[in-house]
Amino acid sequence: MISLGSSYRFAGSIAAMTMTPAPFRPRLQAAGTADAPFHSVLGVDDLPVGSMRRVSRGDLDVLLVHTDRGVFATEDRCPHMSAPLSIGILDGCVIQCPLHEGRFDLESGDPAQMPTTGGLDPDGVYHPTWSPAGRDPKVDPPGTKAEARRLTRVRRFRYFPVRIVDDRIEVALPAV
Ligand code: FES
Repeated sequence: MISLGSSYRFAGSIAAMTMTPAPFRPRLQAAGTADAPFHSVLGVDDLPVGSMRRVSRGDLDVLLVHTDRGVFATEDRCPHMSAPLSIGILDGCVIQCPLHEGRFDLESGDPAQMPTTGGLDPDGVYHPTWSPAGRDPKVDPPGTKAEARRLTRVRRFRYFPVRIVDDRIEVALPAV
């Protein structure tokens, strides 16, 4: 229990007092969460600033990220080909995926760098495969796999609403 003067008492820790949910674009709220119940998923002390954690509910893997903008909750699946972002690299509000080096911005929900495989961005614009600066894009040998890479669309993040209650992080999750 923290006491702030004689009129205010708070049941949580300092970490809980300073932790806030991060804002996200309303149209990127995850489907099925508008009226979904909140679930207690993690203690605030288990998610210091600059860290990421995966928590699972049924077959839903949720990625919690504590940035200086607050706490984001999104699926622990890369918006490209579903690799677990929780084992990627966090740099401010940008996560680098461990699989094809795509970088994804939690603040905007957009890719900050397309995966090395290329493909379609969220707006359907095609990006070629990665190649070193000054070189022409690598030519994919024609075939179904190349076609699949070309047609794979990177999505924007979708976000689960977050709230902090006492010393716990709660996330609104759709029914599984
Ligand atoms: S699966 Fe993440 S960049 Fe491809």
